Amino acid sequence: MSTHSTFLTPELNDYLARLFSAEDNDLRRLQELAAEAKIPAISIAPEQTSFLQLMISVTGARRVLEIGSLAGYSALTMAKALPQDGQLLACEIDERFADFIEARAREAGLDHIINVCRGPALTTIASFTPEDLFDVVFIDADKPNYVRYLEAVLPHVRLGGVVIGDNCLAWGHVHEAQPDYEPSNVTAIAAFNDRMSTHPALRSTLVPLGDGMTVGVKIREI
Ligand code: DHB
Ligand code: MG
Repeated sequence: MSTHSTFLTPELNDYLARLFSAEDNDLRRLQELAAEAKIPAISIAPEQTSFLQLMISVTGARRVLEIGSLAGYSALTMAKALPQDGQLLACEIDERFADFIEARAREAGLDHIINVCRGPALTTIASFTPEDLFDVVFIDADKPNYVRYLEAVLPHVRLGGVVIGDNCLAWGHVHEAQPDYEPSNVTAIAAFNDRMSTHPALRSTLVPLGDGMTVGVKIREI
């Protein structure tokens, strides 16, 4: 017994991934096709899928915003947990990736839920009206803009809604004062975690699944 954390070994991680992955045939097929299409293999890990679906279910989400969708692995994952009248807006700046996501959404029978929005996510968010509110926002795009995405999107998160950022352990370097590994990305993620952990409108934690996801629930208006 201990008040300290139990650190994940590769064996413990395999164990939890075996029990709690929501990866199904559609998602496995998406990964195969993404590899063939030479889309970078930097999606979330299978053990993160069940956590994203859990966030959708506990918030009773109907509207989800994803910032940075790559091949659509996490977008399909979240769309599968939404009700049939749910909506997932997937912001993707790369046209080729956007086409790929739309094809996978059609094949998985999720094209009535997933809408791909092309172009910079900050432009998309700037076009929202005050009535455009989301239950879950997943940020997994260019790291130097993470804090900007957070500030831009927070007015569009409903009370009780959640914001989730990916890669919040920054490949294991987030605690380093002067990281040698991808310093601009690592320091940007550290700044995002600082903002998430101190923002007066959020109650947050860092969930160490995959490369870490910092999660905040909106507890008051900004
Ligand atoms: C990498 C991983 C990610 O999950 C991401 O969003 C961006 C980059 C990487 O491993 O380089
Ligand atoms: Mg990521």
